[in-house]
Amino acid sequence: DRLPALLRAMPKAELHIHIEGSLEPELIFKLAERNGVKLAYPSVEALRAAYAFTDLQSFLDIYYAGASVLLKEQDFFDMAWAYFEKAAADNVVHAELFFDPQTHTERGVPMGTVIRGLEHACRRAHAEMGISASLILCFLRHLSEDAAMATLEEALPYRQHFIGVGLDSSERGHPPEKFARVFARCRELGLRIVAHAGEEGPPEYIRSALDVLKVERIDHGVRCVEDPALVRRLAAERMPLTVCPLSNVKLCVFKTLADHNLPALLKAGLVATINSDDPAYFGGYMNDNFVQTFAALPQWGAREAWQLAHNSFEASFVPEAAKQAWV
Ligand code: ADE
Ligand code: ZN
Repeated sequence: DRLPALLRAMPKAELHIHIEGSLEPELIFKLAERNGVKLAYPSVEALRAAYAFTDLQSFLDIYYAGASVLLKEQDFFDMAWAYFEKAAADNVVHAELFFDPQTHTERGVPMGTVIRGLEHACRRAHAEMGISASLILCFLRHLSEDAAMATLEEALPYRQHFIGVGLDSSERGHPPEKFARVFARCRELGLRIVAHAGEEGPPEYIRSALDVLKVERIDHGVRCVEDPALVRRLAAERMPLTVCPLSNVKLCVFKTLADHNLPALLKAGLVATINSDDPAYFGGYMNDNFVQTFAALPQWGAREAWQLAHNSFEASFVPEAAKQAWV
């Protein structure tokens, strides 16, 4: 069977990766030692053993604790560089990286430290690996809109280093409309707009991400299938969904990969893509997501592989002229 080899070799874009979710336990321990940070787990093995999640919140608690070892510009560079090495091995040629500045600024880490470290890694990945990479600043939706607005202001001196903004963290109880004003300001600034919606939250959150935040992509969005009119709208508008199969299984959105609704999403004509979300926590990077998903879906072959790779470039924020070289 040559399908896994095709999946691994084909050029692809990753559009849904939280860079803090690429922090492997080994690097967490290395940075903890380097920075004198005390961890709640005695070893790499004990930490990895705690990666048994029941829902989004059970993951987020451990994910924010892991990020506490990131203090210096070099730490942010090292984390992103480790991701780019994995991405290059998976034939990812373009990546749009989410980062969560509030996770760091709340601990006293300056915004400039975060952005400079990540931006340096993006620049070097382009120069040395030929990966085009950009940053998307995410607001934490469990915090207030005022906190998001203050975070945006703090980031404006680094405006040239990020292309857009997103919305992540605990979804239920924090609908997109909570952030209507800060996203309106982001649109005025010419930032690209995305939001997590319909991962754990209801289809109504996907609708308000479209209508209130005016997003250009939906992150996850898998619960759209509960609203057939919404599915038709997403297809008609060619609104991309950045789907994360291994994440969805680890966070119990679907029981197994064979139960995932990706086949229905593609059949409905949606611009769905495959992404890793938080690869250090969910058991795999891009090619693991592709190979394991296709292994679980015997009806899928080279046609779907090509479609998903094509979708990833169509859904990307690369300038149209550069896009033409890929699609
Ligand atoms: N932050 C990191 N990963 C996330 C996810 N899958 N959903 C919401 N917020 C996140
Ligand atoms: Zn995510």
